[in-house]
Amino acid sequence: MSAPVVTIDGPSGAGKGTVARLLASQLGFHLLDSGALYRILGYSALARGLSTDDVPALVELANALTVTFPFTVNNTDVCVDGVSIAGSLRNQAVAEAASQLAVYPPVRQALLDLQRRMRRAPGLVGDGRDLGTVVFPEAQVKIFLDADVEVRATRRYQELIEAGQTVELSAILRDLEIRDIRDRTRDVAPLVAASDARVIDSSKKTPAEVVAEVSEYCRAKGIG
Ligand code: C5P
Repeated sequence: MSAPVVTIDGPSGAGKGTVARLLASQLGFHLLDSGALYRILGYSALARGLSTDDVPALVELANALTVTFPFTVNNTDVCVDGVSIAGSLRNQAVAEAASQLAVYPPVRQALLDLQRRMRRAPGLVGDGRDLGTVVFPEAQVKIFLDADVEVRATRRYQELIEAGQTVELSAILRDLEIRDIRDRTRDVAPLVAASDARVIDSSKKTPAEVVAEVSEYCRAKGIG
């Protein structure tokens, strides 16, 4: 039998990354931060001066990627070809580029195998937009984590400030709204809750509370 999968989808800033990391650590499962893959492509495209609509070049880049997440609970590292680049991925320009190139089906297809190969024993916790609908439609546990857009913008703002960046809350709110619309309305793999996903609103919950709720749900489904 293949390894169990827990998917956590939802919009930016809903807390998916934190919850996925804590849950993966609790379960002893591998972690897939699928947004990081789209950001890596965005970052690489910007670094090479490629346009985010140069689909053949982006597919070529995606096919050459070797990505690992050498994570612990407190480590959000991402390595490409063994080199840590996590620090370069968390900024607005990279997020915007990621969201732009994510609308193209051949680009998404090129990242699909990479994501599916990360399913290994004893199991995988993955977060993104389409993990429960497209990447792992057979996942044992599917969560759709949502939150009010103002709450999400404030969280992202605090994250970036803590990372030493100079940002404005109003600009982050606007960027999130633009990305939300693009993610929700694209033709392929739009951001939508899977019909069999458990929907959780994290607006008034701490990460620990969300993790406790998800853990309980996982146990009810025979995981953990
Ligand atoms: O989750 P994160 O904000 O890091 O994702 C960056 C962008 O990558 C998203 O705005 C979205 O457009 C894209 N993405 C996606 N599918 C995923 C994960 C991320 O389209 N599974």
